[in-house]
Amino acid sequence: MSLTVAIDGPAAAGKGTIARAVAAHFGFAHLDTGLLYRAVGRRVLDGMDPIEAAQTLRSEHFADADVLRMPDVAQAASQVAAMPEVRAALVSFQRAFARRQGGAVLDGRDIGTVICPDAEVKLFVTATDEVRARRRYEELLGKGQKVTLEEVAADLARRDQRDSGRKTAPMTPANDAQLFDTTTMSIDEAVAKAIAAVEAAQG
Ligand code: CDP
Ligand code: CDP
Repeated sequence: MSLTVAIDGPAAAGKGTIARAVAAHFGFAHLDTGLLYRAVGRRVLDGMDPIEAAQTLRSEHFADADVLRMPDVAQAASQVAAMPEVRAALVSFQRAFARRQGGAVLDGRDIGTVICPDAEVKLFVTATDEVRARRRYEELLGKGQKVTLEEVAADLARRDQRDSGRKTAPMTPANDAQLFDTTTMSIDEAVAKAIAAVEAAQG
């Protein structure tokens, strides 16, 4: 069967972790849509025009996720993501991915609202600012990045504000999304809850 799971929410809330685990559990394909915007941001940092970077984006540009997870790329991603032409250039790839046979999980900011408004399962994952900053800080430290907790918190706050304040596809829960506050949840608890939500949709 072809079932689409849309997972949205602010930075470092746990969207990707939940999306990967749900996809592995059900054998669905997974697309981290943030990587598309990060790849465009990376190309813009290298001197390219943002719209051209989005229109000529190919999968090889977002194959190396580790390079794209750096905070400077995240800021560039959030800036290009506010441009309607950039977003428009990335829509058809995401929709085609969502429609694949066998099920798909997409995580991002506008999956349940714009990319897949008909998704069978929509989750909006959140956690407090402090918890999200600490999670991302520990993740970056684990990758050998020299960052402070304050820098990480400022990066997330700036992006969340830009992502929810933009005119095109702002970050906001879909009317029919289930809200998932993971502040006090372990990864296993959050994943189990998400799997239960998908099972409920499968009937
Ligand atoms: O995809 P998103 O930016 O929303 O977040 P993520 O990359 O899945 O999670 C950010 C970090 O928080 C990762 O290092 C996860 O392992 C961690 N995490 C956690 O500690 N507890 C959770 N319930 C979910 C994620
Ligand atoms: O992992 P994290 O949640 O920190 O960020 P991400 O999901 O990789 O997204 C990076 C940036 O891309 C976000 O701050 C948004 O500006 C943008 N983005 C978006 O606008 N729409 C999406 N569907 C996914 C990401």
